[in-house]
Amino acid sequence: MYVCLCVGVTDRDIENAVSDGARSWREVREATGCAGQCGKCACTGKSVMRDAITQE
Ligand code: FES
Repeated sequence: MYVCLCVGVTDRDIENAVSDGARSWREVREATGCAGQCGKCACTGKSVMRDAITQE
């Protein structure tokens, strides 16, 4: 599903960023561009990131 409509970032993109070593929201943002515009996706994005880190 799309997490960030502005930049076109999916939950899969965030999971891939975590698989590639991102361990903070800043690192996920740098890797995906998520929340780079309106910022409304930040809460959902962080939640997807936390779930992905937990499942590592
Ligand atoms: Fe992600 Fe707007 S929906 S920056």
